[in-house]
Amino acid sequence: MDTKTATTDKQAGPTNAWDQPVVKCSIPHKFTNKIVKGNCVEIMKELPDGCVDLVVTSPPYDGIRVYNGCSYDLHATGEQVYRVLKDGGIAAMVIQDQTKNFAKSLTSFRTILDWCDNFGFRLFECVIYRKHGTEGAWWKTRFRVDHEYMPIFLKGNRPAYFDKAPLKVPSKHGGKIMSGSGNRRTDGTTTDTVRREINAKKCRGTIWNYLMAGDKNKLKQQHPAVFPDAIPFDFIQCFCPPNGCVLDPFVGSGSTAVAAKRLKRNYIGIDISGEYVEIARKRLRAIPEVLI
Ligand SMILES: C[S@@+](CC[C@H](N)C(=O)[O-])C[C@H]1O[C@@H](n2cnc3c(N)ncnc32)[C@H](O)[C@@H]1O
Repeated sequence: MDTKTATTDKQAGPTNAWDQPVVKCSIPHKFTNKIVKGNCVEIMKELPDGCVDLVVTSPPYDGIRVYNGCSYDLHATGEQVYRVLKDGGIAAMVIQDQTKNFAKSLTSFRTILDWCDNFGFRLFECVIYRKHGTEGAWWKTRFRVDHEYMPIFLKGNRPAYFDKAPLKVPSKHGGKIMSGSGNRRTDGTTTDTVRREINAKKCRGTIWNYLMAGDKNKLKQQHPAVFPDAIPFDFIQCFCPPNGCVLDPFVGSGSTAVAAKRLKRNYIGIDISGEYVEIARKRLRAIPEVLI
């Protein structure tokens, strides 16, 4: 048995390791739970400093898709995202690189360095979004790309809110009995052999699996480059306190706002395209009002 996959509650440890904050929604009323049309940099300038708990977004990059002729500036976006986040706030991004003439553009890595070096973000983690369901056709001259990067930027010393319990994944050997030698002490001796039942679920690692065709929503399918709703759903549960506010400056079909509404968080979504703004608003209207 692969004991590396074994976890117990004790090993997983407390997920809420410090007092979780009680937050009040501090974004201006005119932006609260709204999808706003415009250039995200300009719209974010209208938001006060430190009013957002979490940003989840997937920016356009390398001109891979044509979104109704948009223009964007990832450097200026990072500056505003940093400013509007609260201390301890998180910005999670989904990004990849274009491949041209057998080489990657490196936009993802450049953006990570830019946001960390120039605005003060710290890289909490960079998890891999493993895409299940990528076209299986034979890619003649290179590997089939079945992942994207999800850098998780942190403003401040530590996340203000962190609850990874809802993100647990099934253990391969859940329910079986694990026995093995204990841990190695610094003097080289080992602790006593242990026998214990492996938990059904374990702490999530740094490769996150999502089904690309998981959201069979006709409205969402009208947008050319969406991410699964499950991505913002996971980030929001983990990093946004109840009643907190989630921002997506490139909201597209509204996936982040939809997840926020379902999880009873406040949201602001921005998109430069009137067509996508309408799709996002329609998707949100289809969800019963749950926020008071
Ligand atoms: C990758 S898509 C986001 C898709 C979204 N995650 C979803 O699941 O529907 C990027 C979006 O950014 C929008 N966009 C591009 N430039 C923008 C800008 N300067 N300000 C706001 N939105 C912009 C595009 O219209 C497009 O909808």
